[in-house]
Amino acid sequence: MATHKAWGGRFSEDLDEVASKFLASVEVDGALGEVDVQGSIAHATMLCSIGVLSAEERDAIVAGLTQIASEITNKTFVFDPAREDVHMNIEGALTDRIGVAGARLHTGRSRNDQVATDMRLWSRAACQRVGKRVDQLALALAQRAAGEVDVLMPAYTHLQRAQPSRLSHHLLAYVEMLDRDRGRLSDCEQRLNECPLGSGAVAGTTFALDREQTARDLGFSRPMRNSIDATGDRDFLLELLSALAIVATHLSRLSEELVLWSTQEFAFVEMADAHTTGSSMMPQKKNPDVAEVVRGKTGRVVGSLVALLVTLKGLPLGYNRDLQEDKPPVFDAVSQVDRCLEVLERVILAARFDAERMRRALDAGFVNATEAADYLVEKGVAFRDAHAVAGRLVARAIEAKTDLASLPLPVYLEEHPAFDQGIYSVLEPERAVERRDLLGAPAKRRVQAAAESAITRLTERLAR
Ligand code: ARG
Repeated sequence: MATHKAWGGRFSEDLDEVASKFLASVEVDGALGEVDVQGSIAHATMLCSIGVLSAEERDAIVAGLTQIASEITNKTFVFDPAREDVHMNIEGALTDRIGVAGARLHTGRSRNDQVATDMRLWSRAACQRVGKRVDQLALALAQRAAGEVDVLMPAYTHLQRAQPSRLSHHLLAYVEMLDRDRGRLSDCEQRLNECPLGSGAVAGTTFALDREQTARDLGFSRPMRNSIDATGDRDFLLELLSALAIVATHLSRLSEELVLWSTQEFAFVEMADAHTTGSSMMPQKKNPDVAEVVRGKTGRVVGSLVALLVTLKGLPLGYNRDLQEDKPPVFDAVSQVDRCLEVLERVILAARFDAERMRRALDAGFVNATEAADYLVEKGVAFRDAHAVAGRLVARAIEAKTDLASLPLPVYLEEHPAFDQGIYSVLEPERAVERRDLLGAPAKRRVQAAAESAITRLTERLAR
């Protein structure tokens, strides 16, 4: 286990073995190996440009680190838990291999600005990776929307049949949500893209580091302006976790609908055999487990956000070791959301929608009651009055155990003299959907245009 020899002469006693294991984080932060090396190469290169390292020392460091990075990538690098964390492991291995030049690498740097840099580099890549997956799922949904444009179904409020609509319109609602999710990940990526290096442990360093150079080298937009902030805050991870929690929440709603729609009660969708499971007891079962697990993982992702919020809330400035606890929730949330997106894309592409069942859902539930009211409004009746008339017609239809289209014209006329034969064509669901012909509504041409523009937008973005 780690001894205090690592910390020089301050300590006369070794670190307790249990305490040492307790503090070690390399099992988790080993995942930062590649970005840690990137950061160290930029730092060493800069130390040479300002004359702190010789060109030979720099070259030895860069060669040694490059070798270590490839071993990390190939998973042949052995992390030693006695070396506490990823930073000490890499620096220790480097010094073992190249000697004193390795021991000069940490000049003007602390693990505090180092780990903050690593987490920003890692999160930047994560935003891009997850953002791409978000786009891929959105594209799958938009493609299904384009393909199923003739499938009519009710739109729901309160899970009650509400107004005539179409499946594509429903699917495209998720495309919009995912579009904003993608935007939130990009915003997060942009805002976190600043470089902590040069902040030292908390109050900078006495070396005249070229902070612009390291920031530029690592692809950051600028160096961070305040060393206490740079080392002591993790709000960028809160943003990432918030964005991920919102993605997961959207995926959970989609999954809930897949579960609901695949019940015999709804039977709007059948997921592919490849995406469903059987029961160990009941031979007839075809269970929507994939969608359920996505829904279940959402609790875990939201939990990760809450975990880090609570970790940060009472911390005085600047760095505190509590911050080491930022990694498990971030790494877990990124990987879980990534997997949810990957699997849902497949589920959506393979699902079979039952057009017939969806269309039949429009025949009951008085989904066309708004059409009756709107018809009167077109005849000059005020909407509130028309609403009341249509409500009475619904009550009469319920009483007669029929639907609005089957009520005879005299019944309509009893409720309002402005009705005429024209009401019947307005009540037809096909007509009713087509008449919802305005931006954001489900008329066929509107939905087609929305699906096409989403497909173009997403395809372009994915090609970048
Ligand atoms: N493993 C630590 C972390 O993740 C690295 C920084 C340690 N800094 C310190 N002063 N002990 O936060």
